[in-house]
Amino acid sequence: MVALSHPTIRLSIPLSIRPAIAADLPKLEWYGQYTHFRNVFRRAFQDQEQGSRLMLIADCNDFPIGHIFINFHDNRDQSAYLYSLRIMEMFRGHGIGSRLISEAEKIARRRGCLWSTIAVAKDNTRALELYQRLGYETYAEDDGFWRYRDHLGRMRSIKESCWLLQKSIAVR
Ligand SMILES: CC(C)(COP(=O)(O)OP(=O)(O)OC[C@H]1O[C@@H](n2cnc3c(N)ncnc32)[C@H](O)[C@@H]1OP(=O)(O)O)[C@@H](O)C(=O)NCCC(=O)NCCS
Repeated sequence: MVALSHPTIRLSIPLSIRPAIAADLPKLEWYGQYTHFRNVFRRAFQDQEQGSRLMLIADCNDFPIGHIFINFHDNRDQSAYLYSLRIMEMFRGHGIGSRLISEAEKIARRRGCLWSTIAVAKDNTRALELYQRLGYETYAEDDGFWRYRDHLGRMRSIKESCWLLQKSIAVR
């Protein structure tokens, strides 16, 4: 029997972090994996255009391989809520998620925010550990209930018990 060889090549890929543009919206569905979030992405993009949210994209060759969104609320409490942090599976564990969080914090700080907050599902222990490593501390818990309309117009409900974490991002 002929032994098969398994040639390997090392890739180095260009990655930039930038705000979302309209052309990203269909790509954010990741070829069907997140089609059900179509309206959620559209709404976040509209809010970005109004200035109340920012969709930060990890871009590789014009494709959003990861993202984090920032909700600035009305900013009375001077906090930025970071959410929808997600990296395509094959790109995880290379520091992209940490980098997105750090860029999001810088942007929030420039907008005058004193606190950065994040929610994490109680069973997502690896993400929780990542946030703790980056300086986030648990301050409350939440039932994590939210609703959205999917791409077929159906209302979907999500309920996943989560921890709320915060970090001071005030300039020292
Ligand atoms: C959590 C997530 C964004 C981290 O992105 P990343 O680019 O892999 O993060 P980094 O490379 O900067 O840091 C890696 C660390 O992330 C954490 N992590 C959480 N889930 C992970 C996963 N599925 N694969 C790899 N690392 C993960 C680990 O603490 C890991 O450190 P470790 O290797 O020492 O365990 C990414 O794993 C992901 O998209 N997960 C699915 C979606 C999700 O859970 N989002 C968070 C919602 S609150």
